[in-house]
Amino acid sequence: MTTLTINGRQVSVAGPDDAPLLWVIRDEVGLKGTKFGCGIGQCGACTVHVDGKATRSCVTPLKAVAGKAITTIEGLDPKGAHPVQTAWIEVQAPQCGYCQSGQIMQAAALLKAKPHPTDAEIVEAMNGNLCRCMAYVRIKAAIKLAATQAKGVHA
Ligand code: FES
Ligand code: FES
Repeated sequence: MTTLTINGRQVSVAGPDDAPLLWVIRDEVGLKGTKFGCGIGQCGACTVHVDGKATRSCVTPLKAVAGKAITTIEGLDPKGAHPVQTAWIEVQAPQCGYCQSGQIMQAAALLKAKPHPTDAEIVEAMNGNLCRCMAYVRIKAAIKLAATQAKGVHA
């Protein structure tokens, strides 16, 4: 058994050491907000925070996160009202929505590290998060809006 801290809660999971964190989160812990896209670290759909850093959970083995603090989209804010989430709603960023939890987790990590990113910094930080619906313009607008509310960017 491996003990993890997910969204502030300690959980014990039975997966093997090399089990991808994504599948542990989804199948063992039952949190389905984190999505499978490519499985090879290339699309960003599976992004979670590990000790506050945006991390591709599909290529992160369970043994690498023992004792670390993991945050999924479900734990970003208890009411779903993180400034990135409220900006996302205001801008109506998603289309199909599939990539969006990964986009939001990536953006939240960016704004935590850099509360007022330049356009170039936004592009660089979000470059690995793909969106098949091409919602990139709205995603960028939502990040810029969230940055204007930086006082509340807390997770
Ligand atoms: S599913 Fe993890 S990066 Fe694509
Ligand atoms: S909103 Fe459909 S893949 Fe991004």
